[in-house]
Amino acid sequence: MQHELLSRLKNETAACHARLENALDLMRDDLQRDEYIALLERFYGYVAPWEDAAAACMPASLAGFFDERRKAPLFAADLAALTGERRPVGSVPQADMRYDLPRLHNIGDVFGSMYVMEGSTLGGRFIAPHVAGRLDLAPGLGMAYFDGYGPRTGSMWNAFRETAAASVPEIPYDDAVKPAIATFESLQSWLCPEAADIESAPSARGAAS
Ligand code: HEM
Repeated sequence: MQHELLSRLKNETAACHARLENALDLMRDDLQRDEYIALLERFYGYVAPWEDAAAACMPASLAGFFDERRKAPLFAADLAALTGERRPVGSVPQADMRYDLPRLHNIGDVFGSMYVMEGSTLGGRFIAPHVAGRLDLAPGLGMAYFDGYGPRTGSMWNAFRETAAASVPEIPYDDAVKPAIATFESLQSWLCPEAADIESAPSARGAAS
């Protein structure tokens, strides 16, 4: 009962997850280093403004809980390791809060959206070893985001679940599921604009080329 929110999030975003996982296709054997760098840059440009928007929506009592989960510095570290250049956030195109990010107004919104970001650490446990092996990355270099919390991934996920279940009031459960879906969808449009075009406007795509 306590985790009904988390089961709803999982079940009701499963199709979105499958769609994003397929579009990113990170587990393929011919993944190239420049494709991986381009994906990290794109992710970085979404996650940095998303974190500012989400932090602004968190109650002050959860500021520490949120801040220790910030992932933008992990992208900066990965990009610096892979390109040999310092990568401040302004070095990549930023998602615009008004058009590219889900709208976050209340605690249900922010936990629903954060579910997507925190859940990505679970997939990271499979992605990190695969991509590091495929691209022949030295241990600890270029994999900080997908390594996530490392051996603490399970405990950080459980702590996220507990805090989400304790913080989101039952009535706006729908308010948490909708922003989770909106987050997956906006992330997919941002990371894979071509796949989004094909689904939303197949004929326009043909006409544009
Ligand atoms: C691109 C390749 C991806 C693969 C192969 C992948 C794979 C997985 C796997 C295997 C799990 C289950 C892990 C477990 O239960 O221990 C998982 C969970 C999850 N992933 Fe992914 N994932 C990918 C990308 C993403 C991305 C980009 C996001 C969002 C930014 C994401 C969000 C989630 C969420 C929210 C869960 C938690 C589901 C739940 O148990 O409630 N995944 N993923």
